[in-house]
Amino acid sequence: MVLEAQKRWQRHLASHPQDSNRTDLLEQVRARVATLINADADEIALTRSTTEGINLLTQGMDWQEGDEIILDRYDHFTAFQSFLNLTRRHGVKLVFVDLSAEPGSDADIIAKYAAAITPRTRILFLNWVNYRAGFRMPVKALAELGHRHGLIVSVDAAQAFGALPIDIADTGIDHLAAPSHKWILGGSGAGFAYFSKRILDRVWPIAGPAHVPGTPVAWQDTARKLDNHRPKNLASEMGFLEAIEFYETIGETVFHERLDTLSRLLRDSLDQVGWGRVLTPRAPGRAAAITSFHVGEDRSADDIARRLWEQFQIKVNSSAFAKLNALRISPHIYNSEAQIRFLVEALVTFRNRDKGESS
Ligand SMILES: Cc1ncc(COP(=O)(O)O)c(C=O)c1O
Repeated sequence: MVLEAQKRWQRHLASHPQDSNRTDLLEQVRARVATLINADADEIALTRSTTEGINLLTQGMDWQEGDEIILDRYDHFTAFQSFLNLTRRHGVKLVFVDLSAEPGSDADIIAKYAAAITPRTRILFLNWVNYRAGFRMPVKALAELGHRHGLIVSVDAAQAFGALPIDIADTGIDHLAAPSHKWILGGSGAGFAYFSKRILDRVWPIAGPAHVPGTPVAWQDTARKLDNHRPKNLASEMGFLEAIEFYETIGETVFHERLDTLSRLLRDSLDQVGWGRVLTPRAPGRAAAITSFHVGEDRSADDIARRLWEQFQIKVNSSAFAKLNALRISPHIYNSEAQIRFLVEALVTFRNRDKGESS
């Protein structure tokens, strides 16, 4: 559906190039995203990726030398790169917490962030769902912690948007960035960033703004001022809209229940295989749809991932780059229970073959 929408729009724009700046269509995307995450359309900037959404905040703020940002040592590198720029340019200091792959209870996580706060902290930065180990952060409680100290609470939701319900009003966070090309299945080249009205006046546009004089929407005092490129890739935006339509047609609850059913089957089956260890927490509300599986000391996750692809065309990610030696498995609603079992059987086949070769 997404691909068809993208193709339809690409063809349409080839014959009707005047439509490539259709503000009314972009406003539809903005409004649908806002409704989906329980925010106001005035708080949504349309971006091309999570990375852009993070940079719109960090590169758009006024910084003083010695200001601090708190992040987890293993948060996704895209935010780290953005923050690194601030250390070089403005003398901002990065303060790391170390959640590791198994961070303990929510209270343990909150205690680590609380201990990292100083009078110079400006941003408390979080990954809603950890991209390596799959654990989910207590976002609401961390937002409360951040706000008690007057901080901006910023969330990378790349692995959360589409994989779990996001209710901005409930969590009270100040900023969130997400793509269309991951769990919502919207294709690449689109995404959004949420900026709470509470912080909008503290964020400068880093380029642009993209809106032309006379644009029939109020943009100056809204997150639209942060839309920094035009023309938007309308085919990507319309693919994103199609994906939201699909997601809402199935229904958020059904969508997430399906992810949960497949994830539970996967984690239980991996346990039964009896080698390695599932790192992703089991308790309700503590994970989303990523399952991370430590393959054991005498095997290489990279090697297993390669063999799964070459021999069975099963695509999983191996996280050896971050020294986890784990497989990251991300089943989606289009997978079947039979495919999950097939994956686990493939792992058993490898073990049996490896045993055979070594004996
Ligand atoms: C947690 C997390 N943040 C950010 C990104 C980068 O997202 P994007 O490609 O939308 O910039 C990824 C990509 O895998 C991710 O997993």
